Amino acid sequence: MTKLFKPLKLRDLEVRNRIFIAPMCQYSCENQDGVVNSWHEVHYGSRSVGGAGMIIVEATGVSPEGRITPWCAGIWNEEQVAAWKRVNDIVKKHGARTAIQLAHAGRKASTQRGWDGKSGTISVADRGWSTVSATSEPFEGYEPPRELQTAEVFEIIEEFKSSAERSVRAGFEAIEIHAAHGYLIHQFLSPLTNSRTDEFGGSLENRARLLLEITKAIRSVIPEGMPLMIRFSATDYRDGGWDLEQTQQVAQWCAEAGVDLFDISSGGLITGVKIPSGPGYQVPLAIGVGEVIVQPVAAVGQITTSAQAEKILQGGGVEVIAIARASLRDPYWPLRAAAELNVEVDYWPTQYLRGKWPKD
Ligand SMILES: Cc1cc2nc3c(=O)[nH]c(=O)nc-3n(C[C@H](O)[C@H](O)[C@H](O)COP(=O)(O)O)c2cc1C
Repeated sequence: MTKLFKPLKLRDLEVRNRIFIAPMCQYSCENQDGVVNSWHEVHYGSRSVGGAGMIIVEATGVSPEGRITPWCAGIWNEEQVAAWKRVNDIVKKHGARTAIQLAHAGRKASTQRGWDGKSGTISVADRGWSTVSATSEPFEGYEPPRELQTAEVFEIIEEFKSSAERSVRAGFEAIEIHAAHGYLIHQFLSPLTNSRTDEFGGSLENRARLLLEITKAIRSVIPEGMPLMIRFSATDYRDGGWDLEQTQQVAQWCAEAGVDLFDISSGGLITGVKIPSGPGYQVPLAIGVGEVIVQPVAAVGQITTSAQAEKILQGGGVEVIAIARASLRDPYWPLRAAAELNVEVDYWPTQYLRGKWPKD
């Protein structure tokens, strides 16, 4: 048996293999209301048919202002719950587990979607909104945010909490907190974007307070058997910024607060840094986080082949492989991987048996 196809148990949730589809924004709520639609049903449904163990759906706003773009998904109202329920029913019917990535974009909110050929902030006049952050310093090329008042930070914790409660009702089986890629929680974590003087700024403990409070609030409203995960950027690639050592410490605190898996990415907070990208370039960061906790870690980033994924797991220190862009090219990536690694899986769709790898 390969490691890639060994089932995984997270609390009460059985996952059929170690292949997770990484969260990927679809920017496809065409009415700009955060309500997912047939695109999302087909997109996530195909990846479930394709054999994924878990699908972590796109960054989903806990409030309208928390969305990255006006076309991003949301979970702040009941219409959104009903729409996500339809997606989740399809995903679960075809065997994958379904997780939501709860997110607030902070100073990186209200932006254009890349494929429209524009970049930067969408103005309020153009159906955008004013942004908020731990700081009043802008992300380069974007409009400056307003620094959140302390009372408003507590409101955001409540928004994550109520969104988690709605996510359970929408049929999600796990939750991932988005603390990566320079979005709001990362803006609080990093000393580069947090110069606050209240209890949410200063020491590491204070900068991590928002994430810890969100973690505890979510854990208090979701079922005991439901897994909770966090995505971190493990470094800002800048001296004096967020780094692996701080990630390790905060991951330990989060583990004590009931987090079951750490999904390790990097970067996204600031521009102008040199990222050493290449195949599997974030794997050492995942291993580094895994060294200080007992919970499993997921590696992501330029993992594209089944042999590479299996080798990473065989190397130890990483329990899950998350695939993003390779799964856009090939929704059946997990089924292909099973064939390539000579694993017989019992979830090859019967409708597709005549096309089963290896071809005759
Ligand atoms: C279209 C697209 C949308 C993405 N949206 C998200 C997102 O919503 N949340 C997130 O944490 N990462 C997001 N990412 C990052 C991916 O989850 C992943 O970490 C990254 O693409 C590296 O993995 P890969 O080399 O397998 O593509 C996105 C990536 C792509 C390509």
